[in-house]
Amino acid sequence: MQAVVLGAAAGGGFPQWNSNAAPCRRARAHDPVAQSRTQASLAVSGDGERWFLLNASPDLRQQIGQTPCLHPREGLRSSPIAGVVLTGGDVDVIAGLLTLRERQPFTLLATDRIHGVLDANPIFEVLARDIVARQIVPLGQPVALGAGLTVELFAVPGKVPLYLEDGSDAPPIEVGETTVAAAVSDGHRTLFFIPGCAAMTPALAERLRGADLVFFDGTLWQDDEMILAGLGPKTGRRMGHMSVSGPDGTIEGFRDLDVGRKIFIHMNNSNPILLDDSPERAIAAAAGWEVAHDGMEITL
Ligand code: MLT
Ligand code: MN
Repeated sequence: MQAVVLGAAAGGGFPQWNSNAAPCRRARAHDPVAQSRTQASLAVSGDGERWFLLNASPDLRQQIGQTPCLHPREGLRSSPIAGVVLTGGDVDVIAGLLTLRERQPFTLLATDRIHGVLDANPIFEVLARDIVARQIVPLGQPVALGAGLTVELFAVPGKVPLYLEDGSDAPPIEVGETTVAAAVSDGHRTLFFIPGCAAMTPALAERLRGADLVFFDGTLWQDDEMILAGLGPKTGRRMGHMSVSGPDGTIEGFRDLDVGRKIFIHMNNSNPILLDDSPERAIAAAAGWEVAHDGMEITL
């Protein structure tokens, strides 16, 4: 199985268009230790010919342009992209679907709930239903992707997309069909893609124990980092993201799980692990974690 990181940053990307914070300024100035990153997405393939996207970020057009294995190879119109799997309904997960209009066949796989979100918004009808098959993936049941790969979606703690919040109280953290993990397998090896997760539960820990490769939510270093930096009023918890550090954090949660390769993805522009020379990056590396970057290639 092959995987290519199309984008490694959280919603907004790095640098974010309206951020004048020091790390974003460094990225904009092409500082080599503050590498720019587009919004989170992964491409996977079992045969190197047919590729499946895990999430369709708003940067998808640019990501395809930068990734030769996703370029058309046959005839006047074609694409190696055979399917798109969604792990949620956030803007940074679904907006790239609009880039995939142009009457190109592929299969769109998501939970019933997330298909419901797309069905309720007519702009997604640009993916004509006679061309783009919409396949409901029940939780906990592996389904064939093609080219020897299967994908299983299973629930992780999360919340409804920001634009579906009703504006009153914080939405509850739920374990259901709105935020899911994707487990992609070729029958021998399994890769987990979990760009959003609000907490490490015992069930999730058991699921990930001994895994070959896990891409995991690296949104924030600490829960209140956006508040401390004056960037906004929200904690990570309020946004449905567990933090990398701290006693309930991801480094601690994975410490005894014996995962072969652990890679943070979906880093917010406030997260100091984005900077190659930060002390926080060194702490993550010492705990066995890598930090994804655009164009990162992995063969499992
Ligand atoms: C998130 O991961 O929390 C969302 O992408 C936030 C957003 O939609 O801006
Ligand atoms: Mn996001």
